[in-house]
Amino acid sequence: MKKSLISVGILAGFLFSILMASGVFAAKDVIEFNPSYGTVKFAHKKHSETLKIDCVKCHHTWKKGETSGKLCKDCHKAKAEGKTISAKDAYHKDCKGCHDEAKKAKKAAGPTGCTQCHVKAKK
Ligand code: HEC
Ligand code: HEC
Ligand code: HEC
Ligand code: HEC
Repeated sequence: MKKSLISVGILAGFLFSILMASGVFAAKDVIEFNPSYGTVKFAHKKHSETLKIDCVKCHHTWKKGETSGKLCKDCHKAKAEGKTISAKDAYHKDCKGCHDEAKKAKKAAGPTGCTQCHVKAKK
């Protein structure tokens, strides 16, 4: 009985490490936002790995080196609360803000136009 429990434990640990290695618990490659204004596809992996933007540039409440923690909407709600700006403003300021700046500096930039980011579902 005890022996079989131990082997179940070993097996579970083994499966867990496979899941970890395959990145099941890491961030998705592409994160999709679905506000009524139109879907936004955010290439998370491209932004963090290819463009090499520091995690804490966006996850500004995480400590350097941390790979998980509270997400934007845990704090930024539909409406601003005190000095915590709304989710919409938080995303626009970060996402659009960086794209706007890069565009001004004539560097490679992401989309700045509303409907370049927000794509309405075809009816
Ligand atoms: C350009 C901005 C940006 C950068 C850079 C970035 N992230 Fe994210 N990340 C986001 C956004 C936006 C979400 C969506 C969830 C949310 O709203 O908080 C997210 C979600 C996540 C999640 C939650 C899982 C998921 O798929 O929803 C994890 C884990 C994560 N990021 C880790 C990281 C790590 C680690 C780095 C650095 C290697 C990083 N992020 C870099 C913006 C960014
Ligand atoms: C643990 C809570 C928390 C989380 C998680 C969080 N924020 Fe914030 N955020 C705040 C607070 C509080 C402020 C206002 C005070 C400050 O600037 O630190 C703020 C400010 C901001 C600002 C304004 C900064 C400025 O220069 O005016 C932006 C933009 C922003 N957050 C975007 C994001 C994005 C995008 C995410 C997710 C990737 C995120 N935040 C996650 C709490 C949070
Ligand atoms: C610190 C700068 C920075 C931040 C923050 C940032 N981006 Fe970008 N983004 C870029 C750059 C640079 C490109 C252009 C990449 C290229 O041309 O190869 C880009 C490209 C894009 C594209 C074009 C498609 C693609 O993947 O190449 C989309 C859509 C996009 N970003 C959405 C977002 C969203 C949504 C957020 C916020 C959650 C965000 N970006 C935050 C710098 C940023
Ligand atoms: C760089 C990409 C990007 C650009 C450019 C952009 N947005 Fe957004 N927008 C987002 C993201 C990401 C969200 C957050 C979606 C969420 O909270 O699920 C958002 C949220 C919104 C929302 C809130 C929807 C809701 O239901 O809460 C509205 C409205 C909106 N955007 C309108 C606009 C308009 C108008 C413009 C042009 C002036 C614009 N956006 C430009 C990425 C962008």
